[in-house]
Amino acid sequence: MRYEYDAVLHELPEKGGAYVAFPWDLRKETGGAYVAFPWDLRKETGKGRLKVHAEFDGIPYDGSIVNMGLKNQDGSVCYIIGVLKSIRKTLQKNNGDTVHVIITDRIFNMLRIKLHVCPICGNVIQSTGEAIISCCGIVLPPLEADPEDDEHHLCVERVEDEYYVTIPHEMSKEHYISFILVLKNDGCEIRKLYPEGNAEARFKINGIKCFYYYCNRHGLFQSYSCQHKPRR
Ligand SMILES: [Fe+2]
Repeated sequence: MRYEYDAVLHELPEKGGAYVAFPWDLRKETGGAYVAFPWDLRKETGKGRLKVHAEFDGIPYDGSIVNMGLKNQDGSVCYIIGVLKSIRKTLQKNNGDTVHVIITDRIFNMLRIKLHVCPICGNVIQSTGEAIISCCGIVLPPLEADPEDDEHHLCVERVEDEYYVTIPHEMSKEHYISFILVLKNDGCEIRKLYPEGNAEARFKINGIKCFYYYCNRHGLFQSYSCQHKPRR
């Protein structure tokens, strides 16, 4: 999903009943604000609350569209999304100013995840936007994932509500799989692996979109095995 529109910025009151009813991230920040989401969220998505990726005049923010009891003039629910004080400060906009808003869902955004791996310490860093990532004094460009190949393929077995994942690959100090990561609807989970151990991991099935795994010699691989086949 993608929504793009111009919205009026509304400041939250400094104190008072409406203030405490707002989401936790706004409650903490006196001076926060919100914009309306001018569609019926329930009709659009079937949900009364939705985690989204937003941009306010190009400034990114991960938050939620929520129903905080506000009504439109016709009596329908006015769904809103918060604008943090820090973002409003950057925007240099006040109550009543217009902001250009782009809303996409988090799933869409998560699928654009980029992984950065430090060749010195093995640190794994995730980003979903443009970012310059560095570790151990060197800049880490985002890795391009290759599709699985004969030497780097993922075996997936369903065991009750989990996937048991194995990679039949050497696990010596010189050549090993250093992590397996699953991308889910609302984030990712990573299992670090070590030489002399087994290249295996378990993940709850709920919301899994795809797997990434990293060979210290051959780089990053991506597999959609969970969606197509139970086991190779
Ligand atoms: Fe390898």
